[in-house]
Amino acid sequence: MKPKQRSEIICRCNNVNRETIEKCIRDGAKTLNEIFDQTSAGVGPCGGSCRRKLGPMLEHYLTTGTFPEKLTTDMTGKKPGGSQAC
Ligand code: FES
Repeated sequence: MKPKQRSEIICRCNNVNRETIEKCIRDGAKTLNEIFDQTSAGVGPCGGSCRRKLGPMLEHYLTTGTFPEKLTTDMTGKKPGGSQAC
């Protein structure tokens, strides 16, 4: 993973970057509440818009043991908008 991606800010409200989230999950967080408690991500004044990224990150790690190269709010592989290009 490129260094720039690791410093990507996931939670803008509380300025929490991807590296911090990944470390929290690698260190044993298995629920979103544990990530919220340990990093303060997801509990900012916006109401938790970053949870759309936190959830898929956690699910991907718990399923595969790795983090996705690129973060999206939908890890199913579907294209945004529901249209499928030929
Ligand atoms: S961006 Fe994470 S709580 Fe607002």
